Amino acid sequence: MKTRSDKYAELRAKRAQAYAPAGAEAVDRQHARGKRTARERVEALVDEGSFLELDRFVVHRTNAFGLDEKEFLGDGVVTGHATIDGRQVFLFSQDFTVLGGSLGEAFAEKVCKVMDLAVRTGSPLVGINDSGGARIQEGVVSLGGYAEIFWRNVAASGVIPQISLIAGPCAGGAVYSPAITDFILMTDKISQMFITGPEIIKTVTGEEVSFEDLGGAMTHATRSGVAHLVASDEDNLMDLTRALFSFVPQSNRERPVRYDCDDDPQRSVPALDELVPDSPAQPYDMHSAIEGVVDYGDFLEIQPLYAQNIVCGFGRINGETVGIVANQPNVLAGVLDTRSSVKAARFVRFCDAFNIALVTFVDVPGFLPGTDQEYGGIILHGAKLLYAFAEATVPKITIITRKAYGGAYDVMASKHIRADLNLAWPTAEIAVMGAEGAVKTIFRRDIAAAANPEAKMQELVDEYTERFANPYIAAQRGYVDDVIEASATRGAIATGLEMLRDKRAPRPKRKHGNIPL
Ligand code: HXC
Repeated sequence: MKTRSDKYAELRAKRAQAYAPAGAEAVDRQHARGKRTARERVEALVDEGSFLELDRFVVHRTNAFGLDEKEFLGDGVVTGHATIDGRQVFLFSQDFTVLGGSLGEAFAEKVCKVMDLAVRTGSPLVGINDSGGARIQEGVVSLGGYAEIFWRNVAASGVIPQISLIAGPCAGGAVYSPAITDFILMTDKISQMFITGPEIIKTVTGEEVSFEDLGGAMTHATRSGVAHLVASDEDNLMDLTRALFSFVPQSNRERPVRYDCDDDPQRSVPALDELVPDSPAQPYDMHSAIEGVVDYGDFLEIQPLYAQNIVCGFGRINGETVGIVANQPNVLAGVLDTRSSVKAARFVRFCDAFNIALVTFVDVPGFLPGTDQEYGGIILHGAKLLYAFAEATVPKITIITRKAYGGAYDVMASKHIRADLNLAWPTAEIAVMGAEGAVKTIFRRDIAAAANPEAKMQELVDEYTERFANPYIAAQRGYVDDVIEASATRGAIATGLEMLRDKRAPRPKRKHGNIPL
């Protein structure tokens, strides 16, 4: 009979075994791949000593293909809860040392358990992915397990923030769990996401492509828009995750944490009075406006390498998280196109779901013309951004710095789609279109008939600019609430956010709207 002391020794031995279930060599192989183990990752992410593991003794129930002879405590995924900066978070971390982190029935059940607990307790979920996908030996059971996870991702969407870290392979249908979550962070050169790998692609289409070019972090950060942030290595991955975590609330029932702030909310930013060039054709960097107004100039840009003609990200004003959306005159003159519309629409919807006020900086010449855009569905994609801004009921503050032309004026959180506070700088030009386009359209015949068409054109452009390229016609109608000096923008936003703190905007009951997907 085992003594009590034997039983305690047995527990300790099992816990030690669970810590590295595939043994020291497998851990070495993981390190040799330049990767941390599942537990090391969790420990690197959360507050020291705060991780409480669940289900460390769970094992698979499969006999197929020799698995009856292999038992790995934990079944290839580490799950539990911890704190980040003192706030509760639920986590799962796939353990590549166990059967390549492949997902089987018991593995899926463990992930589902922490997802359910996260929703029940109103806590964010962080998933660390490093897996060969469906566990081949478990067959359809593992597909069922994935689908149980997908269903929970959807059910939790807009209820708790869900953050996916990609720290190794993530292939096949497995990509759809991260894809449903709010943010995907990838480690450069270490992680890949794809639906079908290079081998299958070669067989089916004849294309030859490397893992990295197909689904590496830079591919998804610059081309597909799947990745929201790219980390240079695993330390950086954890730093970025904690930074992102600091901006999001525990759940849709709460606001994000309000941090102490000794950056004066009414601080004047004189440099902004010099930001907009005299020539409407000259670009400038909208980051200067954003960094000028947020606390300490701290701005976490989301998807910084994708659709750079729009800038999205988080900052704080007087300690409170704001989501910032801004046209970027430095890239494609800040025009709206298919990619930038979708990027910003998704960001706006995240902020709205999680009680994060929106601050929108506008300098937009319109939608990008061309067959590429029309065939690519700019009608649908532009409508997504319009829909997202119109649907958002969080406080919305809009600052027009320069151009706000045409349909893009309406889309970019205009008063008419229920922004709460619309401000313009004296350099704003709110009009149906730019002066040249307008004059060419309405005075085409007069210009052609003139003795000197070029001079006539210039005269008409000057007249149009004088009459329409300013903020005052919109201000006369109350479409902008005030015209302010750019240097006063931080103070105006801070005061506006205080005014809107308890905003209520009830919407009629419906199952859900039908956003143009
Ligand atoms: C079972 C797997 C596995 C899997 C890897 N392993 N993938 N075991 N099921 N899906 C095992 C390997 O046999 C190996 O075991 C160990 O994990 C490490 O794998 P390696 O190949 O040695 O590692 P590496 O060279 O780094 O390559 C990693 C990899 C590759 C790129 C992920 O293993 C791979 O291509 N795996 C198959 C990927 C795949 O096709 N998955 C199914 C996708 S379909 P030993 O014992 O030798 O150490 C899918 C559908 C999901 O996932 C659908 C959801 C709806």
